[in-house]
Amino acid sequence: MAREYNLKPAIIDGAVSNDAESSYINRRQFLRYGFNTATGVLAASLGVLGFASILLPPGGSNAGDLGVVYWAKGREDEAWYGAKHLQLMTKTDFVEEAAKSNTGTAGAAGIWNGVPVVVNYVNHSENKDTPESSGLARFQFMEGIDETGKTIGHFEDLSDADPRIFPSENLVMIFGRCTHLCCIPGWQLVSNSFTEDSWTPGGGDDGGTKLFCICHSSRFDPTALEMNTNRNRSNGATFNYAGIRKAGGPAPVGLPLIPIQLNGDVIEGITDYIDWYTYCD
Ligand code: FES
Repeated sequence: MAREYNLKPAIIDGAVSNDAESSYINRRQFLRYGFNTATGVLAASLGVLGFASILLPPGGSNAGDLGVVYWAKGREDEAWYGAKHLQLMTKTDFVEEAAKSNTGTAGAAGIWNGVPVVVNYVNHSENKDTPESSGLARFQFMEGIDETGKTIGHFEDLSDADPRIFPSENLVMIFGRCTHLCCIPGWQLVSNSFTEDSWTPGGGDDGGTKLFCICHSSRFDPTALEMNTNRNRSNGATFNYAGIRKAGGPAPVGLPLIPIQLNGDVIEGITDYIDWYTYCD
């Protein structure tokens, strides 16, 4: 029998259901929500763009050319950003949402340049000076390991070389393709102990606030930033990248970051590190 997950909450015939039994979905049903198929989210949203579009130079200097838009298809009535589906993401939105959380975090699924992303706000600037036992999330800058467990380098080796890689404005943007089999992990899309509004330090599998890949249950900690390594699927070339740590599950390594900048209040991605996103077709 297919494994089932608790969707929070389910939408049945256009209405939000509080029926516990009907709020469970399996992976096949999950596809209907538009988040977890390698091509569906791309084709359904921006059609002609697709992955190849990030190989193109930036579109210009106007706000929005490199902007990230919310993706809430099928969850318009219950995701905090549901009413903003396909609107540009702004820092202010995330700051306001994070103020409602226990951990000082907020996350949202989006589309950037035709590829799926997750943007996370972590109130690092305020929370970093509190005791870790407070449960208030903050970014952690860590040594990374490859899939064999070998240490390969520190996040700051990369951010020192290019400060744009360092989280700016308490925000990170994460490439939304799982390093296991390229499904699209979500932010608090399903309800379980990995996705609840709680945080523990160390980049391990305890606590919530994880990106969760429903396909085979891989977990990624968006507060644990490290160097990692992966391979270009087409030519086999290996590359190091700045990313978030894999906390658990079958994924071999963590997910890459997409460095961001603000254009006014609008969150934009920087296109300089496209090699980092070549491990999926
Ligand atoms: S594709 Fe993500 S866990 Fe398998």
